[in-house]
Amino acid sequence: MRTLDDLDVKGRRVLVRADLNVPLDGETITDDGRIRASVPTISTLLERGAKVVVCAHLGRPKGKVNPQYSLAPVAARLGELLGQDVAFASDVVGESARSTVEALQDGQVALLENLRYEPGEESKDDAVRGEFAARLAGLAELYVGDGFGAVHRRHASVYDVPRLLPHAAGGLVVAEVEVLRKLTESPERPYVVVLGGAKVSDKLGVIANLLTKVDRLLIGGGMAYTFLKAQGHEVGKSLLQEDQLDQVRGFLDEAARRGVELVLPVDVLAAVTFAADAEHDVVEATAIPADREGLDIGPKTRELFAAKLADARTVFWNGPMGVFEFEAFSGGTRAVAEALIAGDAFTVVGGGDSAAAVRKLELSEDGFSHISTGGGASLEYLEGKTLPGLAALED
Ligand code: 3PG
Ligand code: MG
Repeated sequence: MRTLDDLDVKGRRVLVRADLNVPLDGETITDDGRIRASVPTISTLLERGAKVVVCAHLGRPKGKVNPQYSLAPVAARLGELLGQDVAFASDVVGESARSTVEALQDGQVALLENLRYEPGEESKDDAVRGEFAARLAGLAELYVGDGFGAVHRRHASVYDVPRLLPHAAGGLVVAEVEVLRKLTESPERPYVVVLGGAKVSDKLGVIANLLTKVDRLLIGGGMAYTFLKAQGHEVGKSLLQEDQLDQVRGFLDEAARRGVELVLPVDVLAAVTFAADAEHDVVEATAIPADREGLDIGPKTRELFAAKLADARTVFWNGPMGVFEFEAFSGGTRAVAEALIAGDAFTVVGGGDSAAAVRKLELSEDGFSHISTGGGASLEYLEGKTLPGLAALED
């Protein structure tokens, strides 16, 4: 993969695909982690005298202009972090984009409006996507792929534009890939993976692949209940994916056959309803009452998971252990994070909700070896898939 050092950017317009998909509450950015992660590459290009044109998506507006998903608040925050003005184009490849880009001087930066306002960005039709990609590429002379969180998407700005312009990977993509390569090629052992989150169906591919690689797999979060049910336990009103039970039984067998230790919750916080202040009790994972739903792993499980992490040399963690957005049900996620911080393993937090949880729970980001900006992207990488955005940068 070519890197920034392979491009001569001085005085040239450089299109940077970043991942600035941050959570918003109205116009307030509730976690700016992805914006901060995009700063080093943009700063480097600016210092080298480039005219930088940043493009990114926000949410899923599905090809239509929708002010709710405007990148305007992100432009303001990016400007604060860069310490310089970010010109904001009110469209993606239209009149505003053209004039904003034309006005850039060397060392200045602009952000285009949400790529996903344009149907061409995500189109499955190569011709439609290609046409939009050509317009986007027309704004610049060089391309830098730095939106790691979106490299698993076969989208125009990720996959097609690098075919049209001389290109390189940005520093964030290089750093993320280096970490994931370490996990897949030469993890120091014991190699332990902690998976959580709501749906097991989102993680089938990665579980299948990890069962051939890891020493231990700890499962918490909503997906754990499908595993408990597959073992024959009742899970009350907890999240359950009935249609995944066969698949999950297959994983349990496969783990046993391969000698992979698959560790499930032994106790849970069982609540009467899904609410921040829901009445709840600690119950054995094998005895969840019919009218209760598990919203977090219990104290015995927290200790068990910490013990299973204590001697780990490599840990990958993706997905919260419970409904961490509710204070009362954030203890399990916090316990796993603290166990990772306490140990001296090479620890990778796999993006998305787990990265957000680390920041929301005000845990030190320095306590982890790497916090990925890509949840879906890192899982697909670990699954062994070819990621369109990385493949395009390799060519
Ligand atoms: C993410 O939030 O995972 C990335 O920004 C990709 O967004 P997407 O899942 O909507 O494609
Ligand atoms: Mg996502």
